[in-house]
Amino acid sequence: MLNTTVAAVRADGALGSQPLAPRSGFEHDLLAALGQRPRTISPKYFYDAAGSALFDAICDLPEYYPTRTELGILRRHVPEMAECIGPHAEIVEFGAGSLQKVRLLLDALDQPVAYVPIDISGEHLFSAARTLQRDYPRLHTTPLVADYTRAFQLPPLRRQGGRRVGFFPGSTLGNFSPAQALDFLRMAADKLQGGGLLLGVDLIKSPAVLHAAYNDAAGVTAAFNLNLLARANRELGARFDPNQFAHSAFYNAPLHRIEMHLMSLSRQSVTLAGQTFEFAAGETLHTENSYKFTVDSLRALARQAGFTPGPVWTDPDHLFSLHWLQSPSH
Ligand code: AVI
Repeated sequence: MLNTTVAAVRADGALGSQPLAPRSGFEHDLLAALGQRPRTISPKYFYDAAGSALFDAICDLPEYYPTRTELGILRRHVPEMAECIGPHAEIVEFGAGSLQKVRLLLDALDQPVAYVPIDISGEHLFSAARTLQRDYPRLHTTPLVADYTRAFQLPPLRRQGGRRVGFFPGSTLGNFSPAQALDFLRMAADKLQGGGLLLGVDLIKSPAVLHAAYNDAAGVTAAFNLNLLARANRELGARFDPNQFAHSAFYNAPLHRIEMHLMSLSRQSVTLAGQTFEFAAGETLHTENSYKFTVDSLRALARQAGFTPGPVWTDPDHLFSLHWLQSPSH
């Protein structure tokens, strides 16, 4: 796909009888997705400015229980979590969004030394980190713009013999495939040697509750999903007609995951970067998986990655869980 030579007018109007090199990771991955069957693309492309704002709105929806449930568990059990983490910790947050949850943790910790929020989106990260730095002047806050699913380097520890502790809330681990989740946990176990990881994951529950969480009455999740097509039109000059696609989300029980798709409502063709792709009515672009775990399945996965699972905290309805995972020592 990358090096094919095609004679075509690009969607941006450029004439091309030369290789149409994709201009961005998004374009590259969307071309690859459209050219394969089943069509599937990484959920990381949901999060442009509009998608991030829609995700924030999802977190406040009555049907979307994970955010408020995790916050409730944190509020109730944060002293025990702080006990596991210990004094003078250097916190690394993977995929730091608004940095709201970490404040609960920082407030409970004994003299935390440093905080490294990592996110792929620099603009949002820097403004959130500036505010946090103002509120926690004694904490060394060093935002790091990186894709933490790929190789990256952490800043050196501030204190000799300091403990690095990861914080990965929100069940973002569930958006990885099982193989990617294991790779991520292996990487984390390695980078957090001598410390640990505080990890939040969503639990398997009634399909009706799961279904409602991803099919909210106000249609915010549908807008979040469809924004991927609007983003492709805005950024890549693609020609998707968002009215000809529908949000489809369902619980795939044997695979323990919510699947989100964009389903074509008619037979149609779509152009991107000078190429045309046919969609049959009912055909889908698979946009996200959101895996759900049992406490035991998560602990087994963590053990496989080299962690020693410790205490687990859940809410009274067992909707969500937070796990303390001890990293291997140096
Ligand atoms: C970010 N992630 C954990 C969310 C989830 O529940 O998988 C993304 C999301 N997709 C639809 N609603 C929320």
